[in-house]
Amino acid sequence: MLCFYFSFFVFALVGHDHQVSALANLEEVFAWKELSFAWPSEEVHNAALKDGDYVPGNNLPLGLDRWKNKLFVTVPRWKNGVAASLGYVSLDEPINKTASIVPYPDWKANILPKAGGKPEDDNYIVSVFRVFVDVCDRLWVMDTGLADILGEPTVISPPAIVIYDLNTDKLIRRYTFKAEDLKQDSFFANIVVDVDKDKCDEAYAYVPDLGGYGIIAYSLKENDSWRFKHNFFHFDPLHGDFNVGGVNFQWTDGVFGLALGPADQNGFRTAYFHPLASLNEFSVNTAILRNKTAANDPHIYYAFKLEGLKGEKSQTSASAFDEESNSLFLTQLNKDGVACWNTKRHLTPENVALVASDPGRLIFTNDIKIDAERNLWILSDKMPQFIYRELDPNEVNYRIFRVKVADVIAGTACA
Ligand SMILES: *[C@@H]1O[C@H](CO)[C@@H](O)[C@H](O)[C@H]1NC(C)=O
Ligand SMILES: *[C@@H]1O[C@H](CO)[C@@H](O)[C@H](O)[C@H]1NC(C)=O
Ligand SMILES: *[C@@H]1O[C@H](CO)[C@@H](O)[C@H](O)[C@H]1NC(C)=O
Repeated sequence: MLCFYFSFFVFALVGHDHQVSALANLEEVFAWKELSFAWPSEEVHNAALKDGDYVPGNNLPLGLDRWKNKLFVTVPRWKNGVAASLGYVSLDEPINKTASIVPYPDWKANILPKAGGKPEDDNYIVSVFRVFVDVCDRLWVMDTGLADILGEPTVISPPAIVIYDLNTDKLIRRYTFKAEDLKQDSFFANIVVDVDKDKCDEAYAYVPDLGGYGIIAYSLKENDSWRFKHNFFHFDPLHGDFNVGGVNFQWTDGVFGLALGPADQNGFRTAYFHPLASLNEFSVNTAILRNKTAANDPHIYYAFKLEGLKGEKSQTSASAFDEESNSLFLTQLNKDGVACWNTKRHLTPENVALVASDPGRLIFTNDIKIDAERNLWILSDKMPQFIYRELDPNEVNYRIFRVKVADVIAGTACA
């Protein structure tokens, strides 16, 4: 008996080793010391540097998503001198690993109005953390409207969902959140879109409020939004302590990551979600989130479920769902990596596999996405050093990796 346990232990160790070795397959597609931008001319570039409209070290990439040969990258206005908050890098071969960010939809939309001014029309982006490419060739952008968060925070405009047609690069709609969608400490860093490719008009967006502990649902067809509140959206006070890249800090971020499972015959999905400062994963059916009346019904409390515990130090920013393997991918901020959980199994720490971990190159795995070709994209950006210390411009600070989902889960419980 003792012998059996011993060999099981050895097997478990080997199994663990095998999982970690999967990180060897990550392809480093981009690696920047500092971000550069595709300026319209050298004069404009020099003037921006001189006027402080571009401070290279203050431009930190944070979110990503892929559409065809464009890899969208967001650059939130944490500090002053962000050249453009939304842009993309080209995936045309040969890929330039230090490519300049091309502003999207164009330069004009990314230029902040001068002190006290307001944007001229609806086609503008103030500050964006995350974007979402949907199956209808649209880019959904969550614009916080807030510039210079860590310096002199300036509200340029209220939070808004901004939608672009990726085939024409034209603005489809700018939807400004209603006053009742907002709380004192609201902060909208993420956006996930729920849509069937045959019913593009019937899209819904779900936007977690990490500071006000809510989820806003938006219907494209009704052009209306409503807000859910729930205890599960709050952070866990016992798990708000982080040690990442040699920096210790405490966060109170609530509901943050959200990813959608496959559609059932009625078109509804399971929405998996988690507060950032928490070790748990929760879920709710999108039939609830889509229902405006339900938002104000106290009985829907029980429609929200605890899926389970992800394990020690398993705090997650972004998540992404792979429909082929039924696996949910989860960034692991305190483990410099990414994990996966096969949702056909119970969520327990044993059923969560660490599929990538690298204390050198995966410091703060900020965003992940799975594209239409089943590539997993991972963005790491040393954000704690950027916020609480300083980044060294002589080191590589920002990286984007690509790996086939099938390769990264091979040999794990997610395969
Ligand atoms: C890659 O992009 C950078 C930044 O735009 C540029 O300086 C460099 O010349 C490019 N390299 C190649 C090989 O095109
Ligand atoms: C959507 O709603 C907003 C706010 O209620 C309104 O300003 C805007 O005109 C509407 N857009 C469309 C296309 O109906
Ligand atoms: C929406 O929610 C309300 C309140 O919980 C419920 O009475 C109603 O049946 C729901 N509607 C649908 C279409 O599920």
